[in-house]
Amino acid sequence: MASRPHRDLPQRERKTLDRALSRAGAMSRSQAQEAITAGRVRVNGLRVRDPQVWVDLERDRVELDDAPLQAKSLVYFAFHKPVGYVTTRSDERGRATVYELLGDLDSWIAPVGRLDRETSGLLLFTNDTDWAERVTNPRSKLFKRYEVLARGALDEAQLERLRTGVELDDGRTAPARVERLGEQGPDTRLALAIAEGRNRQVRRMLEAVGSRVLALHRVAIGPLELGALAAGQTRKLKPFEVRALAGSV
Ligand code: URA
Repeated sequence: MASRPHRDLPQRERKTLDRALSRAGAMSRSQAQEAITAGRVRVNGLRVRDPQVWVDLERDRVELDDAPLQAKSLVYFAFHKPVGYVTTRSDERGRATVYELLGDLDSWIAPVGRLDRETSGLLLFTNDTDWAERVTNPRSKLFKRYEVLARGALDEAQLERLRTGVELDDGRTAPARVERLGEQGPDTRLALAIAEGRNRQVRRMLEAVGSRVLALHRVAIGPLELGALAAGQTRKLKPFEVRALAGSV
């Protein structure tokens, strides 16, 4: 029955109901939880209101709004986010969103993490929520690499503090990779890579060492480089790129 785990099956075939719905590309995990508790989902003909019920997609018949759940094909995109767009589907303040640049991608897709409105560079989109969780999980140790223009002339001691960890209001940062790229007038250009993805983390790290971010651009996530992708453009990831980013958590 759907309410018990099938312990004899490989892990990948068993999923909680909310995960099964989001995995099928139908909606986000939280939207799936709402749909389930609202009674819109049946498993083997029975209405189920518990998002944590285990299902085996090979054996159980899952229906959403009385229609069988059909696995949508999973899609993975790299996007070059320009400055000036918020990473959200709709903004309550009416600001321009990244979705306005994505065009009609014919599928429910969500950003993998987010970039601030004033940050540019590599942003991933997918409808594969498991994969997105792996990419964003700090335990996957995927370093996100940024080019930073920081205010003022930063000395070695400041760079070393960024490397070893600075105290932020939500805790000390994990070790970062930091290199000086050069000077730009009175300011400093840095390459900075972090495996965490806390809110406005790079900006807060620079403030913690007495500087400020003047420009922030993400050039890579793990092995995936932004490369020559033009601002505002998307490209599909190749299967080997999707695998390389999934790593092991
Ligand atoms: N760190 C930030 O401060 N902002 C971003 O957009 C990404 C990382």
